[in-house]
Amino acid sequence: MKFITLIVILIALLSLLHLAHGRIKTPFTRARNSYLREKYWGEPPVFSNETLWFEQKQDNFDSTNNNTWSQKYMIVDDYFEENGPIFIYLAGEASMSFFGFQEVQVVNWAQDFKALYLVLEHRFYGDSYPTDDLSTSNLRFLTSQQALADAANFLTWIKTERNLPLDYPAVVFGCSYSGALSSWFRLKYPNLVVASVAPSGPVLAQLDFPGYYGQFSQSAAPDCVAAAQSASDQIMEAAKTQKGWDYLASLFNSCTPLDNPSDQYYFIYNLVDALGGSDQMNNPPTWILNSTCATLLENGDYLNNWATIFSAGQTGCNDFRLQTFINQTQQIDIASQNGDRSWEWQSCVEFGYFSSTYPGSSVFPPVLNVEEQVRWCSEIFGIPNMTPNVDSTNYWYGGANPLSSNVMFTNGNLDPWHLLSVNNDRGNVKAVTYQAGHCGSLIATTDHDPISLTQARQAVFEFLQSVLAQ
Ligand SMILES: *[C@@H]1O[C@H](CO)[C@@H](O)[C@H](O)[C@H]1NC(C)=O
Ligand SMILES: *[C@@H]1O[C@H](CO)[C@@H](O)[C@H](O)[C@H]1NC(C)=O
Ligand SMILES: *[C@@H]1O[C@H](CO)[C@@H](O)[C@H](O)[C@H]1NC(C)=O
Ligand SMILES: *[C@@H]1O[C@H](CO)[C@@H](O)[C@H](O)[C@H]1NC(C)=O
Repeated sequence: MKFITLIVILIALLSLLHLAHGRIKTPFTRARNSYLREKYWGEPPVFSNETLWFEQKQDNFDSTNNNTWSQKYMIVDDYFEENGPIFIYLAGEASMSFFGFQEVQVVNWAQDFKALYLVLEHRFYGDSYPTDDLSTSNLRFLTSQQALADAANFLTWIKTERNLPLDYPAVVFGCSYSGALSSWFRLKYPNLVVASVAPSGPVLAQLDFPGYYGQFSQSAAPDCVAAAQSASDQIMEAAKTQKGWDYLASLFNSCTPLDNPSDQYYFIYNLVDALGGSDQMNNPPTWILNSTCATLLENGDYLNNWATIFSAGQTGCNDFRLQTFINQTQQIDIASQNGDRSWEWQSCVEFGYFSSTYPGSSVFPPVLNVEEQVRWCSEIFGIPNMTPNVDSTNYWYGGANPLSSNVMFTNGNLDPWHLLSVNNDRGNVKAVTYQAGHCGSLIATTDHDPISLTQARQAVFEFLQSVLAQ
C-alpha cells in the first residue's frame, strides 16, 4: 500500500472558493461555472500526487452485466496508527479534487483520531465514468443507490486488503449531496461503518423547492430584503413591455434580445440565482451574503447593482438563451462534460430540488414555476413527460426522518438547504445547527467563526469520540 503525503490547503484559495460560490445556485451546480473556477479557484487543492483506481462493476445490481470501469480514489496513510479508525469521504457531484475545501476539518479529525483517510470519487463525475459516454441510455447507471454500492465495494476491498475484519470501525463523511449520501450509507450499510457525519445533506427529495429563495428573507438583513423586493418589482414592471425587456437586456449585458418567453424565463432564473442564492455559501471569512447585500444597497440603484452582482467574474456578454443551456446539457461526450448533465440527470430522476418563486414564497420575481424546469428534463434527455420520482427516493431513504443510528447532521441556519435536512435530534440520529452557511462545519477555521459554528465542530468531535468508543 502506498504512502501518500497530504498537502495542506491554502487559506487564501479557500476564501476565494467561497467568493466563487456566491454565484452558484445549488450545492450541485458548483462545476457549472468554469470561468469562475479558473479565475478564482485555480488548480484544485492537491492532496496527493498520485491517482489510484479501483475496479467497479458497471451495474451493482445486475449479475448478468459483467462490465467494469475504474473509479478514482485517494488514500492518506500519514495519520493512521494501529487500531485507528477508517474515515471515508464520499465525493459528490463534481471531480474528487473539488471537495478539498470541504475536507479541511475531516482531515483534522483524521489526525486527531489517527485514522486512515480515504476519498472516493462519485460515478459519472470527474474522471470516474462507468460508460463510454453520457447517452440517456447509459445514464441509467447513474443513481445514488449505485454510488452507495460502489462505496460499499470499495470499503470492503480496503478492509480486506489491509487484513482488517469487515466490521472494523469506519466513519463515513460527505457534504451537501454527498452529506446526504453519507447518512444514507450508514442507513443502508450499517455493518460497514459505525457512524456517519452528514453536513448540509438535503435528505428530503422535493420536486418543488420554493424555500430555496424563500430563505433569503430569513437570512438577509431587512434592508437587503426590501431592496431585493424593490428591484424585483422593477423587473416585473419592465417585463410588461418589449421596451422594458430591451432595457433589462442592455442593463444585464445580454448577448441577444430578450424577445421570447423561454429566454425571458431563463434570464430571470439566472438573475434570481445570482442574488437569491447568495445566502447558501454565507460562511466566514468572506460572508458572501453580507458583501452581496452591501453591493445591492450602494447608492440606492438596486436594479443596476443587481446587474453588478450578476456580472462579477463574467467577461463579455451574457448568453441568456435557454437553448444554449439545453444544447450544452445535451452533449454526451465525456470530454465535453463538467458535471452538469450528470447532475441534471440525478435531479430529473431522483431529487427534483427545482427552485421556484411562486407568489408569496419569496421576494423575487414570482414567475419561476416548477413545470418549466421539469420540462427541461424531457428536452435534455429526450424522455417524454420525464419527472423526478421523489416519492420513491423518500420511501427508499426515509426523507427527513431517516430511521437510522449514529448519524450526525450539521446545518447552517442561513443556508436554504437546511430546510431539506435534519435539524433536530431524533433518537440516535443527532443534529446540530449553527449561524453560517452550507458545509460550514467542514471548512477551515477562521478568526471570524461564530461561536455556534465552533460549537458545531466540537459537537462532531465529541460525536466521533463517542461512536468510536462504543
Ligand atoms: C510524488 O511525491 C513523492 C513524495 O513526495 C515524490 O518522491 C515523487 O517524485 C512525486 N511524484 C510525482 C509524479 O510528482
Ligand atoms: C462477461 O460475460 C460474457 C457473456 O456472459 C462472457 O462471454 C465474458 O467472458 C464475460 N467477461 C468476463 C470478463 O467475465
Ligand atoms: C452580516 O449581516 C447580518 C445581518 O445584517 C449581521 O447580523 C451580521 O453581523 C453580519 N455579519 C458580518 C460578519 O458582518
Ligand atoms: C442548439 O443546437 C441546435 C441543433 O444542433 C442548433 O441548430 C442550434 O443553433 C443550437 N442553439 C444554440 C443556441 O446553441
